[in-house]
Amino acid sequence: MGARITGTGSWLPARTVSNDEIAATLDTSDEWIFSHTGIKTRHIAGPDESTASMSAEAGRAALAAAGLKPEDVGMVVVATSTPDYATFPSTACMVQNALGCRNAGAFDIQAACAGFIYALEAARGLVELSRRPALVIGAETLSRIVDWKDRGTCILFGDGAGAAVVEYSESPSLWLSTLRADGSGAPYIVREGGTRPGPDGKPLPAAPLAMKGRNVYNFAIKALEDVTRSLCAAAGTAPAELDCIFAHQANGRIIEAVARRMDLPLGKFYLNIASTGNTSAASIPVALDQAARGGALRDGMRIVLCGFGAGLTFGGTIMDWPGASGGVRDNRDTAK
Ligand code: UT7
Repeated sequence: MGARITGTGSWLPARTVSNDEIAATLDTSDEWIFSHTGIKTRHIAGPDESTASMSAEAGRAALAAAGLKPEDVGMVVVATSTPDYATFPSTACMVQNALGCRNAGAFDIQAACAGFIYALEAARGLVELSRRPALVIGAETLSRIVDWKDRGTCILFGDGAGAAVVEYSESPSLWLSTLRADGSGAPYIVREGGTRPGPDGKPLPAAPLAMKGRNVYNFAIKALEDVTRSLCAAAGTAPAELDCIFAHQANGRIIEAVARRMDLPLGKFYLNIASTGNTSAASIPVALDQAARGGALRDGMRIVLCGFGAGLTFGGTIMDWPGASGGVRDNRDTAK
């Protein structure tokens, strides 16, 4: 028994903002941003768009690709750090309602930029147990939580949503995952505004995303390499035998460094960051959908999805696209 991905979808807002537009109001330049991040432009949500509305668009496209009706869905899972509401209702409940998934449960997952990796694995487990399809979405409206005066962060992020339908399958093939965390790095990426008390005992007020970029950069390179190597070892695959690696699109320089350290050609890594920026939990499913629709992702390809983010969280999945697990189903077996 196993699970496979039977459809993907994505949604990027129509409005794009170039590096030059940011440089018009901030002490930065297209040259600096592109040479340090690989980003040229990013999509920014319009006034009528939200994480839930973009999720619904991506989810609708994924259901159509899978040939499923909304009522077939057993669970809607949304990975996001920028939900429509601070705490509840979950964004997944809004998507469930918008799409008319009237027979589905719904919940959000918060694992920051690694959120889609976590959500996909959670959905796989649920699908194998329930034998009912799950709609898995990664979506973000980061433009509404960044400080547009902070050149160290605002240049990086973009908005969007990506989705995948996971269905039960009788025909097993490779699908192994590892989900990891290192909470000692929690201070590296923080957004206040929860219930954490300040010195006066009252909750700290909401604030924009704050990041120690260099610390995250150094962690990310090691995390992506470790995850990819441990997944390959668990699958008995040399990294050079992988057909494509879908790493979280956080910074093109991070991906280049991972390729160098692993002695892999950069061409093995799917790259769309130049036109999307870092869309956090949306980055991997958006890349998957673009690759699937553009013909870069074909059945039988051995691929790795790998990500990292605030928390710190990290993790990945190795699969023979479009999946169908039948081997190890315990994450501890693949984590080193
Ligand atoms: O999705 C997961 C979350 N985050 C990440 O993956 C972020 C990972 N980190 C990064 O991508 C990089 O650390 C950044 C792109 C954020 C920053 O690049 P960096 O090469 O690590 O720069 P830095 O923070 O070490 O700063 C170097 C210099 C500083 O100037 P001084 O102090 O040397 O004079 C910064 O003020 O670059 C300056 N700087 C900029 N200059 C022009 C930082 N941002 C900019 C900017 N334009 N946008």
